[in-house]
Amino acid sequence: MASKHTAKTGGADEPVVRLKGVGKVYGNVRALEGIDLDVRPGKVTCVLGDNGAGKSTLIKIVSGLHQHDEGEYLVDGKPVRLNNPREALDLGIATVYQDLATVPLLPVWRNFFLGSELTKGPWPFRRLDIERMKRTTDEELSAMGIHLDNLEQPIGTLSGGQRQSVAIARAVHFGARVLILDEPTAALGVKQSGVVLKYIAAARERGLGVIFITHNPHHAYMVGDHFSVLRLGALEMNASREDVSLEELTNHMAGGAELAALKHELSQVRGVDVEELPEVVNTPGS
Ligand SMILES: Nc1ncnc2c1ncn2[C@@H]1O[C@H](COP(=O)(O)OP(=O)(O)OP(=O)(O)O)[C@@H](O)[C@H]1O
Ligand SMILES: [Mg+2]
Repeated sequence: MASKHTAKTGGADEPVVRLKGVGKVYGNVRALEGIDLDVRPGKVTCVLGDNGAGKSTLIKIVSGLHQHDEGEYLVDGKPVRLNNPREALDLGIATVYQDLATVPLLPVWRNFFLGSELTKGPWPFRRLDIERMKRTTDEELSAMGIHLDNLEQPIGTLSGGQRQSVAIARAVHFGARVLILDEPTAALGVKQSGVVLKYIAAARERGLGVIFITHNPHHAYMVGDHFSVLRLGALEMNASREDVSLEELTNHMAGGAELAALKHELSQVRGVDVEELPEVVNTPGS
């Protein structure tokens, strides 16, 4: 899995991933219909939509977990049908799920290499190359602008935002060309969300195509180059940044839940009505 695909930078504006008229039916539930989506190197494509709109279904198709029933899924211009996430990963399509697959008690560097440990020495004396793993983790995190005091600390002691950031740096290191992030800011406070948005921008700078799933039009607008809004499984809006304002995007998304979430965030920013708000805690290991 190591660096088979290096992120293309500049020039190539061809979509790495393209969906054309994709549809998906679960039994008699129609989850998606007529979805067009392009993911280009060095661009962030935001997928927005209310609960049940089809966001997760869409990324499950792109990440190889589920298969589409209609339309076409192209990678580098060639039609594909991915049978599992491993096949997606081999094409450079990596997904960071919300419940990050980390082992909380293991150090940051061990988690970085989890499942792809570096070893040294000939058989039967092969052992973990701890020095090289630590050094590489340090280099890769630094390259993304992530600075942790101590790579030995259990990953569970990092904040939610920091853990997301490590997961992003990990995907970049292991050769992702397309990075799918499923609601990476959903469980985070304002400041931690800012941290994650910064690394989404860093991944874009490294030439990755990013699919950023979110409920939050403000977060989307801060980093997005393209916006696709899903409603009841269909594309309600599909527009480039030049063609849409934050206000329009917010209006498309303005359901009750979103407004409540926004209000919550605003009151946090301004520090008003704090007593009314639930406490935001970053418990170690949570
Ligand atoms: N495995 C499944 N079997 C049957 N129906 C499903 C399945 N997965 C999703 N659905 C249905 O497809 C529709 C889209 O669901 P999906 O999970 O993609 O929405 P979502 O936009 O990710 O919502 P949320 O914001 O709540 O995560 C819903 O009506 C859902 O009930
Ligand atoms: Mg979902």
